[in-house]
Amino acid sequence: MRVTVRAVRGGDWDAVVALESAAYGAAGLTEGRAALESRAAASPATCFVLDHGNRTAGYLLALPYPMFTYPDLDRTEDVVFHSRNLHLHDLVVAEDLRRRGLAGILLGRLLTVAAAKGYATVSLVAVGGSDIFWAAQGFRAHRGITPPAGYGTGAVYMSLPVPDARTGRTELADASAHQAPINDEVG
Ligand SMILES: CC(C)(COP(=O)(O)OP(=O)(O)OC[C@H]1O[C@@H](n2cnc3c(N)ncnc32)[C@H](O)[C@@H]1OP(=O)(O)O)[C@@H](O)C(=O)NCCC(=O)NCCS
Repeated sequence: MRVTVRAVRGGDWDAVVALESAAYGAAGLTEGRAALESRAAASPATCFVLDHGNRTAGYLLALPYPMFTYPDLDRTEDVVFHSRNLHLHDLVVAEDLRRRGLAGILLGRLLTVAAAKGYATVSLVAVGGSDIFWAAQGFRAHRGITPPAGYGTGAVYMSLPVPDARTGRTELADASAHQAPINDEVG
């Protein structure tokens, strides 16, 4: 089956909302359509859907956020941050298509775009025990950061340095240090 990763379009939201609700509804972690759309509107170039044949089978939403901060799940985005840190807010693959590497394909696209755009780090809040998955992808946990209760019990803040697109070197030698990247500001 042909797999394509592409930018999110207006007509994708029914499918994205259905995937989100199936993934998080049981845990009470759904944020709803308006919040999801606002995350993508803040950074359309770092949000993608994955088509598996004719079906939208996954999505990834990422937006710049200062290191060690993250979206409030109960609120839509009302500012766009200009940060060297890209926050991978959400990644979902349809349940019947998991363990086939589709999440890895979406993450690979994000890291390519992040490097091209000069991001220094990618952060995320791992929910529902997914920190095992993220650790396998190279993310490191910041155990000193405690995400709010809205992210569910056991949520883990994690980050990954992004290699420079030209040199292949990472800018932050140790992204586990509690140092915010420079030039974080609200625009
Ligand atoms: C997490 C998620 C996106 C992974 O999608 P996926 O397409 O199955 O991931 P991949 O096939 O690329 O996974 C590659 C590897 O990650 C690991 N992995 C994937 N899901 C895992 C899980 N739930 N627990 C532990 N390890 C997992 C496995 O090592 C897997 O390789 P393997 O199948 O050879 O063992 C998917 O399970 C999902 O949508 N979950 C619900 C939403 C969610 O929790 N998203 C993350 C929120 S922060």
